[in-house]
Amino acid sequence: MARPVLGAEESEAVARVLASGWVMQGPEVEAFEGEFAAFVAARHACAVSSGTAALHLALLAVGVRPGDEVVTVSHSFIATANSVRHIGAAPVFVDIGAATFNIDPARVEEAIGPRTRAILCVHQFGLPCDVAALAAIARARGLKLVEDAACAAGSELLVGDEWQHIGRPHSDAACFSFHPRKLITTGDGGMVTTADAEVDARVRAWRSHGTRDGIYGFSFRMTDLQAAVGRVQLSRLPALVRERRALVERLRARLGTAVRFPVEPSWARGNWQSLCVRFGDAAAASAARARFEANGVAVRPGIANAHEDPMQSDGIRGSLNESERCARCLTPTQPAPGPACRWPGPGLRTPRCRPAPCAWASTAGSTGWASWATTTSTPPGRGGGRSSCPPSGSTAGGWRCRRRSTAASRSSPRATSRRPPT
Ligand SMILES: Cc1ncc(COP(=O)(O)O)c(C=O)c1O
Repeated sequence: MARPVLGAEESEAVARVLASGWVMQGPEVEAFEGEFAAFVAARHACAVSSGTAALHLALLAVGVRPGDEVVTVSHSFIATANSVRHIGAAPVFVDIGAATFNIDPARVEEAIGPRTRAILCVHQFGLPCDVAALAAIARARGLKLVEDAACAAGSELLVGDEWQHIGRPHSDAACFSFHPRKLITTGDGGMVTTADAEVDARVRAWRSHGTRDGIYGFSFRMTDLQAAVGRVQLSRLPALVRERRALVERLRARLGTAVRFPVEPSWARGNWQSLCVRFGDAAAASAARARFEANGVAVRPGIANAHEDPMQSDGIRGSLNESERCARCLTPTQPAPGPACRWPGPGLRTPRCRPAPCAWASTAGSTGWASWATTTSTPPGRGGGRSSCPPSGSTAGGWRCRRRSTAASRSSPRATSRRPPT
């Protein structure tokens, strides 16, 4: 289980901001925006308080209004659908492709109606969806296209013969989350990138109570404390993506055909924020689940579908069979209560057990593959295993273990949340 990678540099950055006395949406936020824009090669980047706030403001900024419909996926963290609801608009759900867990562009046309204003696509688990196909549909139908890139910092798309980062953007606006479960974190936080100066100006006004186009603004600012952390995190991003990609290749080689990995199209390079694998059938999934649990690893099904929430079921227009099948796939999470462990990465031979500060923080980063590593005393595929960690502080079997603070985990506000973010 990967915890967020937070070190001395982040602590120093926070201390610098505290010493400066300017802690809210000031020079650090401006610098973070500039550096993020440069990283993804966007003309504009505007930092906000969360990924959900980014989606909310971006949808408003491209013109979604109460009573409109937005075509999107059900199979996503509930924030995707909620951001549409927050405007008073309605999500209309289309199914995903079995190979990628991403929106199926072939199903989008049938969901478009007279009230449709925009398409909101999701790069699920950080794997880029087919933005080019969606942009063509949006153009042909006079719709706006917004990317939910909450999970996709560092992911890339092949455009012509150039790899481009998600967020350039390849649509009207892209929205990122810096929740601790993402590759890089600011605690909570988000970013809207766009090539459109008007969209950027609206988001900038509305994030801090500005009134524009007849809409009252919100309190969606990012603090300088968060931005200072974000700047350090951003500098770590390329290495984090490289590490994730190498680990997934290694797991792919070792697990062979035992599970189905998501298919990465030739034009996409995901950051593998999460790796959600599929089992052959429900029996195989529950057998695997039992094995995970016997080895002290909590498991849960993949993402819950929005349309299965009674308050979102009016968004069903057609079959969502694949979304429903995928929601039943297994995503291992942290051992709870117990030690939370992290596979230290290529080149390091021994998994480390570490205390987890809170339930969701310890699930930050990838879910599937990293959890797998926590259950074994050797890298996956080398055999061996242990059913529980040795006592706190011991180093038996090459493990360095400390017990997780269950008090800390209980005090986490996220720990009581019904759905873990993806
Ligand atoms: C696909 C997706 N969209 C939106 C969000 C919302 O982001 P935040 O938690 O920063 O509001 C998340 C996860 O948190 C997500 O996984």
